[in-house]
Amino acid sequence: MTWTVDFERRLDARRMQGLLRRRITVDGPQSSRVQVDGRLYVSFCSNDYLGLANDRRLVSALQRAADRYGVGAGASHLITGHLAPHEDLEAALAEFLGAPKALVFSTGYMANLGVVNALSRRGDLLLEDRLNHASLIDAGLLARAQLRRYAHADCTEVRRLLSTASRGRTLILTDAVFSMDGDLAPLPELISLAAAHDARLIIDDAHGFGVLGDRGRGSLEQSAIPLVPPVIMMGTLGKALGTFGAFVAGEALLIETLIQEARTYIYTTAPPPALAAATCESLRIVREESWRRERLRAMVARFRRGAAELGLPIGESGTPIQPVIVGESKRAVAASRTLQSRGILVTAIRPPTVPPHSARLRVTFSATHTDEDVDRLLDGLAVALSECQA
Ligand SMILES: Cc1ncc(COP(=O)(O)O)c(C=O)c1O
Repeated sequence: MTWTVDFERRLDARRMQGLLRRRITVDGPQSSRVQVDGRLYVSFCSNDYLGLANDRRLVSALQRAADRYGVGAGASHLITGHLAPHEDLEAALAEFLGAPKALVFSTGYMANLGVVNALSRRGDLLLEDRLNHASLIDAGLLARAQLRRYAHADCTEVRRLLSTASRGRTLILTDAVFSMDGDLAPLPELISLAAAHDARLIIDDAHGFGVLGDRGRGSLEQSAIPLVPPVIMMGTLGKALGTFGAFVAGEALLIETLIQEARTYIYTTAPPPALAAATCESLRIVREESWRRERLRAMVARFRRGAAELGLPIGESGTPIQPVIVGESKRAVAASRTLQSRGILVTAIRPPTVPPHSARLRVTFSATHTDEDVDRLLDGLAVALSECQA
């Protein structure tokens, strides 16, 4: 089969299953209002939970740092690409989290790949929740250790798998807030299990950092769990923090090991220093403006109340990720289109991102949405779901 025929067949197969993905081009900054093809929409699609992606204070911090440090870092961290704003950001993150050290990576995807591969060897065991984010799954697939996936949040299965571990060491990997469902991992139980088996627990708090906990430190703060071994925390900066990048936080020896051995940290150009400076400003706002988290909580409560009254099929989530489970991909796409025709953007999420027959509308809230936006979304969902079921 020629390459061209292969490409055509694969794309045709996707089209027929309703799995072809389309990008929309947003003309303007990320916000709860976005402009697409000249039309303004209320968007419930971004991970800009605190509404900081276009905050003028971040823009100014970025501009000031670009004036001073230029645009590109020009080299990897271990050559000459580690600039003062990177160092400042790592210190600020560690201080904010109450952790000894933090290490900034270019993206969350790279952080997950880097930490899992640096910490595991042939003969080790990796245990992963089935609903983990693709970056954690890929990290496990790339590692030389044996990968076992357990049923979602099933600590009984984790216990059983831990008892099968032979000579090597074990890493347990979990999303802290599951990205397509919004529910929380059973962190206290996983920590006890990890501690009892001399394993380490890597939590990916991409969707909790900045959002959960009174001070926005994330899922650990929400559950009053200290960031000490066996926990290793990964957080991203492109979601609630409104900028770009990621970090791993933990004890000093762990971070030094990652600097020496995490390939996605070593063999890549350091992120633009001005971005690190903008993230420092964002961290200051996250700390000081707790009203953004309160606003999110109020909106989630309003949405869930309204959805229950309308009988909408929402998942069990108390976070700003609120999935509306539709089932078949084509119906999810149809419902998303109906919402779009009413000026509302909600992405249809389909397999393989979610399990078969669980396609959904993934609603995400931002602190900049209004109560009226939530009510308009609820009305739109009621119409869109009844039409796609008809
Ligand atoms: C749970 C989770 N982990 C990791 C990532 C990857 O982070 P990044 O976008 O910084 O690569 C994402 C989403 O992007 C995510 O949802």
